[in-house]
Amino acid sequence: MSIVNFLSGGGTALFTEEAIRERVKTLAARIDADFAGRVPVFIGVLTGSFIFIADLCRAVKIPCEIDFMRVESYGAGTVSSGKPLITQPTKLDLKGKPVIVVDEIVDTGLTLKAIIEELSASGASEIKVCALVDKRAKRRTEVNVDYTGFVVEDGFLVGYGLDAAERKRNLPDIWLLEEI
Ligand code: IMP
Ligand code: MG
Repeated sequence: MSIVNFLSGGGTALFTEEAIRERVKTLAARIDADFAGRVPVFIGVLTGSFIFIADLCRAVKIPCEIDFMRVESYGAGTVSSGKPLITQPTKLDLKGKPVIVVDEIVDTGLTLKAIIEELSASGASEIKVCALVDKRAKRRTEVNVDYTGFVVEDGFLVGYGLDAAERKRNLPDIWLLEEI
């Protein structure tokens, strides 16, 4: 836990800045080993992955390319359509390259499924998934997460990129909100 937690999430601190840093180092070391001699493309899922991918890509020691995709599930409404739309595709040519999709949290799995479907037509040589948090209770489709930071059963998390109505992304720790 940060000594002075000036930015409080308003619930329970679940994963501290220090714990996240350690976990990111471990994931980066595994990626370094698995992709030694190759140049993977990290594709961050906007907006929530922006902090995780920034830390992850600085913790790996291998060369890499970085881009982002934006996916929206909600359109103008507040209820998930269940069919996420890719509203910003990658601008990189992925042909023959290994790709690592970086997301901050997997919940239903529908977002990652849509991304993997989109990327599978890109000619990428392989597609791996790295998620900081794997939230299991509400999974609606099977998604293989190759690199997992933390596993939680359920609950609404904020901080380290995760938001509640666009707020709290800037908290250094990850918090479990008691109420939203
Ligand atoms: P999906 O349900 O797996 O498609 O997840 C879609 C997106 O919902 C995630 O990438 C997050 O941006 C967001 N999300 C899911 N669970 C949480 C949470 O606990 N806190 C904040 N955002 C979440
Ligand atoms: Mg996300």
